[in-house]
Amino acid sequence: MGKVFVTRSIPQDGISMLQSRFEVEVWDGCDPPPRDVLLAKISGCSGVLTMLSDRVDNAFLDAAGSVLKGVANFAVGFNNIDVDAATERGVAIGNTPGVLTDATADTAVGLMIAAGRCFLPAVRNVSELQWRNWEPMMFLGQEFRGKTLGIVGMGRIGSAVAERLHFGWGMKVIYTSRTDKEEVGQRLAAKRVDLETLLQESDVISLHTSLQKDTRGLIGRAQFGLMKPNAILINTARGEIIDQDALVDALKSRRLFAAGLDVTDPEPLPSDSPLRELDSCIILPHIGSATFQARSRMSIMAAENLIAAIGGSPMPYGLNRVS
Ligand code: DGY
Repeated sequence: MGKVFVTRSIPQDGISMLQSRFEVEVWDGCDPPPRDVLLAKISGCSGVLTMLSDRVDNAFLDAAGSVLKGVANFAVGFNNIDVDAATERGVAIGNTPGVLTDATADTAVGLMIAAGRCFLPAVRNVSELQWRNWEPMMFLGQEFRGKTLGIVGMGRIGSAVAERLHFGWGMKVIYTSRTDKEEVGQRLAAKRVDLETLLQESDVISLHTSLQKDTRGLIGRAQFGLMKPNAILINTARGEIIDQDALVDALKSRRLFAAGLDVTDPEPLPSDSPLRELDSCIILPHIGSATFQARSRMSIMAAENLIAAIGGSPMPYGLNRVS
């Protein structure tokens, strides 16, 4: 019977599947295990079920040792994992694609409305006992019908956001993508453009690209300079895609109307981060996939990945090929 370490509490569905086959330890602390504890816990494990906050690198792979067969990330994103290093050692890596598409797309739409309609200062106004009268000139926001939506990264989640806002709000969709997305393009009358054009023409910009070397800092000072002054920027992908200092300046100088972020760099933000103070920046604690349904299915997929890898089969949601 192999040993499996699960680095945080996750829905029981996946845990039960693992428990019926392996010796399973679940870290149930409120915070993630400190790095030295994590490395000690995974020693001798055949499988590890990781979160996006766990760095899977050479030190991690060394600590687990040669018995490690697979690492199943409880996320669709896998920028926390050195996949090449794992592949070299014959360790399978898997993720949980597809099942969190709707949950994350809903979060992006929610952030767009919340940021564009000034929900954050309005809620603060009520909770800080400032609400005195019905005010004709307070918390004026943007409307979305017929406006232009720019999707940066037209993958599963980007398409789901575009679909909601095209059919629901009649928004015109433009997008950037490494490849032309013919089917989505036709269904949503969406046009593929370059990033510069997208930034210049969009009223709402929603980021859905994965974090890679060439997308780190993709939205910086020069890019904010191209945006419309009333633009709204939404990020449910990874915080590192935005240069946050440039974002603070763009919001403070009203170069940008508002931002809605489900992800930041780092997570959580430090207590003195200027972003926390800005009424025009609504921030969620990375809850894009936080629905009962998505998280339950993610736990099952991660368990399926580990069961396959430990049993010597390819992971059903694998990211590398190992022999
Ligand atoms: C992911 O899956 O990559 C999200 O960021 C968290 O669910």
